[in-house]
Amino acid sequence: MFAVTVCVACSNSAGRPAQDSAVIPPDHIMDFSVLYAQNCAGCHGVEGSGGAAMSLANPTYLAIANDAVIRHTAANGVPGTPMPAFAQSAGGMLTDKQIDALVRGIRSWAKPDALRDATPPPYAAQSAGDSQRGADAYRTYCSSCHGADGRGGIKASSIVDGSYLALVSNQQLRTIVIAGRPELDAPDWRNDVEGRPISPQDISDVVAWLSSQRPKFPGQPYSTASTNAATGGSR
Ligand code: HEC
Ligand code: HEC
Repeated sequence: MFAVTVCVACSNSAGRPAQDSAVIPPDHIMDFSVLYAQNCAGCHGVEGSGGAAMSLANPTYLAIANDAVIRHTAANGVPGTPMPAFAQSAGGMLTDKQIDALVRGIRSWAKPDALRDATPPPYAAQSAGDSQRGADAYRTYCSSCHGADGRGGIKASSIVDGSYLALVSNQQLRTIVIAGRPELDAPDWRNDVEGRPISPQDISDVVAWLSSQRPKFPGQPYSTASTNAATGGSR
């Protein structure tokens, strides 16, 4: 009580900044909603959903990704994709404690009984995929929405676009096949074909098939062959 009285007096004195006007140094911010809003919401959406990047509040995602995965990704980013590294140890701005606060806050979005008794496929691939088999799995599980060859259909857009594949990791493709993007009506692993969940091996195979279409030189409109022709083969 005494302290309050003193401070009211302080903030009234001329030229003295009000008590609550002190700026919190960025590395002292520990409040999850502030940390999330300032660092993640721009891509992953307000409250973990509705952004350009996948929803982190998706209960299926939180059922397959453990804290270590979320912490590692937030700290180190995903090289070669738009997901930045946030830990100071990786060139970012956040302390390890702030990363931990983010992980705890994201975890608090989980809905433990969201999957009831369904067992989701493991987060990480257990075996290498086979792109030949993946083409078959694609036709079975994905073509009804993404079109016969992946270039888009009535219900969903292209997932073989070179600019898309160049910037997305295989893990992210796997994550999306398992967890879906409910905010965009993209189904989870149980709902590509009614009553027929896609198996972990089929997921690895379909990711291998997508990955095999990733361009070697993203953003290059001309193949090396046509460049050579244009320059008379001098390069
Ligand atoms: C500039 C946009 C951007 C910002 C900002 C961003 N992310 Fe991401 N994030 C992405 C993209 C894109 C991916 C998918 C990367 C890939 O292809 O693997 C991703 C992936 C992730 C994943 C892994 C998903 C998986 O497959 O397991 C986690 C966890 C994550 N972000 C957490 C965060 C957190 C926490 C923050 C804030 C501290 C954040 N992100 C800020 C764009 C962003
Ligand atoms: C019932 C329709 C449907 C089926 C089946 C389906 N998807 Fe999708 N998928 C969507 C929709 C809708 C979106 C989001 C909007 C869009 O991309 O057009 C989407 C988005 C995606 C994305 C991009 C997400 C992003 O971050 O932009 C990937 C990758 C994807 N689907 C892969 C697959 C794969 C692989 C399969 C098969 C295993 C599959 N989908 C089956 C409807 C479907």
